[in-house]
Amino acid sequence: MHFEIKNNIFWVGKIDWELRKFHGEEYSTHKGTTYNSYLIKDEHTVLIDTVWTPFAEEFVDNLSQVVSLDKIDFIIANHAEPDHSGALPALMKEIPDTPIYCTANGVKSLKGYYHKDWDFHVVKTGDKLSLGSRDLVFVSAPMLHWPDSMFCYLTDDNILFSNDAFGQHYASELMYNDLVDQCELFDECIKYYANILTPFSHLVRKKIEEVLELKLPVDMICTSHGVIWRDDPLQIVNKYMEWADNYKENQITIIYDTMWNSTRRMAEAIAEGIRKVDGMVVVKLFNSARADKNDIIKEVFKSKAIIVGSPTINNGILSSVSGILEEIRGLRFREKKAAAFGSYGWSGEGVKMITELLKEAGFEIVNEGIRELWKPDREAIKRCADFGENFVKSL
Ligand code: FEO
Repeated sequence: MHFEIKNNIFWVGKIDWELRKFHGEEYSTHKGTTYNSYLIKDEHTVLIDTVWTPFAEEFVDNLSQVVSLDKIDFIIANHAEPDHSGALPALMKEIPDTPIYCTANGVKSLKGYYHKDWDFHVVKTGDKLSLGSRDLVFVSAPMLHWPDSMFCYLTDDNILFSNDAFGQHYASELMYNDLVDQCELFDECIKYYANILTPFSHLVRKKIEEVLELKLPVDMICTSHGVIWRDDPLQIVNKYMEWADNYKENQITIIYDTMWNSTRRMAEAIAEGIRKVDGMVVVKLFNSARADKNDIIKEVFKSKAIIVGSPTINNGILSSVSGILEEIRGLRFREKKAAAFGSYGWSGEGVKMITELLKEAGFEIVNEGIRELWKPDREAIKRCADFGENFVKSL
């Protein structure tokens, strides 16, 4: 499959309808994904990125139907992760002398993955590659989201090839932002940002400001995953600026795990307490052992506060709760509040432990949390509801 986007610029990537987990088992992709690769034909022909390794053969075959492979003059590797570079070995077997343009860190990663001495050309921000009637201008974008990442910009057609930035794991044969379901699209965009880009938010803002200051017209943003932004392409850039600014909505997320439903009952009572005094705040509950962790992270990203609960077990907390707290710690959320809760039968130190973990993760702790012995009775349920009321009042 391939199609022309504009003036001899072709999408030559792969739609992966089947993918349900990305980065090993790390990231859920309920709607599949795409690996976008682009071919620009001019006086010189250039290929931007490739696709993930399992599709290498298909990719090379498909590409050879759009262009005779020996007519490819340059390859751009905007990012070395194997979902974009995975077909390079198969392609380079066919055209081994073709120069590959990437950042200095790109060379390190590509050599590290493939152990080949291809003809690498290191580029940095402002460097240009003339294709004949148009130029490609490079913009390094370290930590958006890897140290080797870069963008490139095609003059005259005003297209920004942004690689992972502004992308989403979303398979659709429609391929353009204005043609797909907007709720689905933005849900995947925010999930992608929350799970992948949150720790680099300060760099996201800086890089976007730097690119906007160049005052380059942008008619299209061609990402490496999901749709091509052609209708008001800067809308996703503006969303990124919002998300990078310690984003939060009027939402509280309650995350818990439970053994005999006591901690679940506490979670529900806390939610009822919140609802009693604040009819507008969105409250969402997730059992961390059952819900998808990337979906939970997306909801944490949207929240102004979270409440996390676990029963005490083996002088600790349940592993699904410690697991999601470890994810949350790594993502470095800022300006969010939190508290802990949980049931216990014997030692009961779980709530304290969760509170400490939340503090370490950068959350502002609202109170010392609440714990209840054995199965909560009516009085205990009332205490939990009061806890919810006081929690929301103190935000
Ligand atoms: Fe789509 Fe960072 O790889």
